[in-house]
Amino acid sequence: AENGYELWLRYRFEENVVRRNEYMQYCGGGIAAPEALKDGAAHAELKRALPVILGKAFQANNARAGCIYLGGRDDHPAIATLIGSDELAGVGDEGFVVRTGSWEGRPATVIAANTTRGILYGTFSLLRTLQLGEPLEEMHLADAPKLRHRLANHWDNPVRGSIERGYGGKSIFNWGELPKRIDSRLHDWARLLAAMGLNGVAVNNVNTAKNDLEGWRLLTPEYLPKLSALAGVLRPYGVKLYISVNFFSPMIVGSLDTADPLDPGVRKWWQAKAAEIYKTIPDFGGFLVKADSEGEPGPLKYKRTHAEGANMLAEALAPHGGFVYWRAFVYNARGDRTPQAYNQFKPLDGRFDKNVLLQVKNGPVDFQVREPISTLFGAMPRTALAGEFQITQEYTGQDKHVCFLAQMWSDVLRFPLKGEKNDMRMWNTTGAIAGVMNITDSPNWTGHLLAQANTYAFGRLAWNPDTSPDAIASDWTRLTFGRDPVAEKTIVSILRDSWPAYENYTTPFGIGMLSDRNKHFSPDPAGRGSVHNADSKGMGTNRNVAKGSGYAGQFSEPWRSRYEKPETCPEELLLFFHHLPYTYKLKDGATLIQAFYDRHNEGVAAARDFLRRWETLRGRIDKERYQQVRKKLSEQIGYAEEWQRSINDYFQKRSGISDTKDPS
Ligand code: GCU
Repeated sequence: AENGYELWLRYRFEENVVRRNEYMQYCGGGIAAPEALKDGAAHAELKRALPVILGKAFQANNARAGCIYLGGRDDHPAIATLIGSDELAGVGDEGFVVRTGSWEGRPATVIAANTTRGILYGTFSLLRTLQLGEPLEEMHLADAPKLRHRLANHWDNPVRGSIERGYGGKSIFNWGELPKRIDSRLHDWARLLAAMGLNGVAVNNVNTAKNDLEGWRLLTPEYLPKLSALAGVLRPYGVKLYISVNFFSPMIVGSLDTADPLDPGVRKWWQAKAAEIYKTIPDFGGFLVKADSEGEPGPLKYKRTHAEGANMLAEALAPHGGFVYWRAFVYNARGDRTPQAYNQFKPLDGRFDKNVLLQVKNGPVDFQVREPISTLFGAMPRTALAGEFQITQEYTGQDKHVCFLAQMWSDVLRFPLKGEKNDMRMWNTTGAIAGVMNITDSPNWTGHLLAQANTYAFGRLAWNPDTSPDAIASDWTRLTFGRDPVAEKTIVSILRDSWPAYENYTTPFGIGMLSDRNKHFSPDPAGRGSVHNADSKGMGTNRNVAKGSGYAGQFSEPWRSRYEKPETCPEELLLFFHHLPYTYKLKDGATLIQAFYDRHNEGVAAARDFLRRWETLRGRIDKERYQQVRKKLSEQIGYAEEWQRSINDYFQKRSGISDTKDPS
């Protein structure tokens, strides 16, 4: 039965009827690979997929069928003939060239690359072509990732197996049984990461010491063999292992009485710890650190800067080629949090070691459904930055609402930091990207099956931030549900409309976090007075320079001026930057408060329509997955109605202005 476990790596025979002959011609004759690749992940993936996709005829030694050649130009004359040396040099150490042509009078397919990892990415790319039913004839694709470091961040707690902001299931890591037993799911996890195009993964929660979150233990000797086992699972897939560490480790794991980054004993402790890890895991990626943030300890306790803290770890990892991802999610509960990270980190530009990446969330608040881009991007030219996105939908419906985030991430990644005429984008100031994962031990990994589209989308955008969100949605849909065009159109339409719908029935116009304080799921406008700042006259937060916290002023032009005034501020961020009267007139003449009610009403209508659209798919996709999603979409309507009612009621009371279009 179909339960969604296969994700989009769902290889099938019957779906390829149209081009089966063509596929047989180019790929049906077997796989030719040098010894070194024969035990590798690419070869294994082809062996897993091709017999299913092509059917029994695969490898029947059909004299007319061509082979797939894997390797570099030196590995086979077919590769040297079909792939130019310039071409291969051009794709670097992670890219690949996939080309079909002919060799010795037979059709042939070549997957060429400079590294094993490149071959693996090329393999997933070829398989995607076959799964999508696209032509192989004259295929000639050279591709390489645009960002150098592409990381998954799991927020999993090793001891309890719970997941910080994890929905749909528990942690896939059973540390108790490692290294002895390696669950087969872990191999599929490594495949999944590689299929997403990622090359690094941090496996534990950034909160490492609070309550039961005992992630600090990963640095104890007991865990080293376990880490080594995980690294061994990841290695064939070209994914490096990272862990989140606690800044106080010298005291909690070691027996020092300080963790002061300028203390020579502390520095030595970290150096010895790094050496110990690399002895067992020579390709270890490095550390992810949440310091001086939400109760996690850090260098400020010793009156040292974030740079001094990060550089101490960087110094320990540098001899081994490791990296420190130092998070910039710092804020003080007093006052508006949005300008704070910039104020703390910008003065440190140029002071971080080369192997430190400052990991910055996409926006200044916290993964909201709508917020402007973080002003740190573009503000620290002498610091390597990593953009942090959240795949797990903490504030965007968790595993209960469909909310496809590709458009939001794409908007952030393509945001013209210095204005439309300049090509500076957040991602070309960074070279690194991290996604907080939505992967759990639930049978379909993500709980809500449609949430897999977010997992997929993050990988595609990390590989190439310019990929169109609509193309991602349609690829994912066809890979996941097959090639029925009606199903494709319907599911893509739900994905495309899901983010705007969620925004509308929860927090339109950038008003911000109106959810409950613990779970961040249900509406709690009364408990979020300091977010919406509603009084008898108006709502919203002043974050301009003239009247507010000045976040607008941290942008480069033209954004600074545009955000400064309500007349030029994009409407979707109006209440993020401005406190405005309920009767403020929007561009289309509507009053702000009525438009605010309307958005909620429209959002609910959209949620209802998702279920209606989905129900047209009965019989077009398999029953199991049809029912799984149907159930989620019908529950979503209830949650959407709850938001609409709660928010509209609250604001009608605050403003004394009723919703003239209330449908109820
Ligand atoms: C959010 C989230 C926390 C998480 C934090 C972080 O605030 O609610 O659970 O620890 O982000 O990114 O560190």
